[in-house]
Amino acid sequence: MTLYEIITKKKHNAELSTEEIEWVVAGFCRGDIPDYQMSALLMAVCFNSLSDRETADLTMAMARSGDMLRPETGGFNADKHSTGGVGDKITLIAAPIAAACGVFVPKMSGRGLGHTGGTIDKLESIPGFCTELPYDKFIGTVKKAGFAVAGQTGTLVPADKKIYALRNATATVDSIPLICSSIMSKKLATGADGIVLDVKVGDGAFMKTEADAEKLAAAMVRVGQLAGRKCSAVLTDMSKPLGRAVGNSIEVIEAIEALKGNARDDIREISLALAAEMLVTAGKGDTEQCLAMAENALTTGAALERFKLMIELQGGDPHVTEDYGLFGKARYCREIFADRSGFINAVACEKTGLIALRLGAGRQTKDADIDPTAGIVFDKTAGDFVSRGERLAALYTSAECDLDSIAAEFEGVFQIGDEKESTAKKNIIKIVKGY
Ligand code: URA
Repeated sequence: MTLYEIITKKKHNAELSTEEIEWVVAGFCRGDIPDYQMSALLMAVCFNSLSDRETADLTMAMARSGDMLRPETGGFNADKHSTGGVGDKITLIAAPIAAACGVFVPKMSGRGLGHTGGTIDKLESIPGFCTELPYDKFIGTVKKAGFAVAGQTGTLVPADKKIYALRNATATVDSIPLICSSIMSKKLATGADGIVLDVKVGDGAFMKTEADAEKLAAAMVRVGQLAGRKCSAVLTDMSKPLGRAVGNSIEVIEAIEALKGNARDDIREISLALAAEMLVTAGKGDTEQCLAMAENALTTGAALERFKLMIELQGGDPHVTEDYGLFGKARYCREIFADRSGFINAVACEKTGLIALRLGAGRQTKDADIDPTAGIVFDKTAGDFVSRGERLAALYTSAECDLDSIAAEFEGVFQIGDEKESTAKKNIIKIVKGY
């Protein structure tokens, strides 16, 4: 077997065998396969895709490249994963809700990727908060608070780390079987009994169309089922930034407000739906019953209590939930005002993510530092009416960046017209159940 032969097969759209896929993953992890050959294979996969069987084989081979965990919490472990969005702080709300309803959530999260944010970066804006926990401390926190959020350890799915870095540099990220294997290998290796996937759809997501998002959801749910996990996917709208804030500390503050019952509709609806699905996978009831339980955990403040406890157990200052001044404050702020009256018919989502990145909320290079104070707070969103001179949003940063040019570019994010266009999207588009 040579990689040259395997690349040639995939170039001609032939199906790779299980042995060939396992050989490629193991060889690439060992360093026996050079990046240029792996890149050629990844590009061939982008053009010719993988069959369901090949996708499942790739996912399992990647998952088995490192530790295969089985969290010993003594209860049902549910996990939730987003395919990546702009302003996506849903984990910070859905996980404590599920925890408050009696499901354990041992959550291993990632950092920001491209124009999309990452839960670990957001939580690290809490003074003292630690995301690098020894495994026993991570499980101990889950047992006490019901959930914990940590970064992935180096020994979990090393194949994804190597392949992902290469995909990021070779324009091979947006392939359905490659996204499926990347996400599901991590979910299977972290060992949750129930897996709920938040598949984002629209301009700010990797999947721009509903049809592609459905294909990705179906592929991930199928792999989860094959691996014997309870798995479902919720397709949610990402055609505009989610909620009011896009950044790190400002998103944590928005999540705390949501846990206090002050969420914008999109945040509330999607958080409750995701939390309810986690409860359904745990056998707590049907969707309607689980939604009612999730709502109750929010209105009684039980979810907020879980969130505070998790912060404390992970070394953070739980008083941030009362005093937002404890988060760092951005040195610079630029307000953006409407230059005309009209209806906001669109808020360009991917562009918003890229501008937040330039403000310092994300990484422009792999090892760059995050500015936890940077980001964008929206006063208006798609569908709203705005009067000339009214504030649309505020940009925050502590970096010495060119705020004038960033602000000028940001003004183009809003599409304002005389008529209200009927472009409103449902927050929850569809649920794909795998059980
Ligand atoms: N998130 C991941 O973890 N992997 C992908 O390929 C895309 C989004």
